[in-house]
Amino acid sequence: MPLADCKLVDLPRIHDPRGNLTFIEGGGRHIPFDIKRVYYLYDVPGGSERGGHAHKALSQLIIAMSGSFDVVLDDGYDKRRFHLNRSYTGLFVCPMIWRELDNFSSGSVCMVLASNLYDEDDYYRDYSDFKCALPAPGAGQLHVPQR
Ligand code: TYD
Repeated sequence: MPLADCKLVDLPRIHDPRGNLTFIEGGGRHIPFDIKRVYYLYDVPGGSERGGHAHKALSQLIIAMSGSFDVVLDDGYDKRRFHLNRSYTGLFVCPMIWRELDNFSSGSVCMVLASNLYDEDDYYRDYSDFKCALPAPGAGQLHVPQR
């Protein structure tokens, strides 16, 4: 799936002087999948990079619950860097997208909602394997480079 399918998602915010509240519902309400797993990255040392893989079938929503970090998405043809720094903004990542996470601020927490349980067989951990698995440009879809 192309990079254009990966989008920032504005999540609902209930403003309250006692503290704000955000909620996320799956099944097409806020994200186009049912949530089967939640995991989070924390205590990330300065200068660390995470990710460095693609998923064959997994969809995810990535949220900076605290602090900030960058997510670089790559569909094998185009790349885009997203800076996440709001707990009410998620980044939807569809299958077959290579992702790298870096630029973590001190104390940041990266929460990921996932469409399926952990399965190592769903990963491409080698970039050239990922590239080989992509459909050739022009095979059923028109590739339009993005700026
Ligand atoms: P990985 O997905 O490579 O982490 P990241 O993309 O955040 O850098 O996973 C790191 C390790 O954690 C790897 O050994 C697999 C394990 N893991 C689980 O056991 N369950 C999970 O849900 C996840 C995401 C990872």
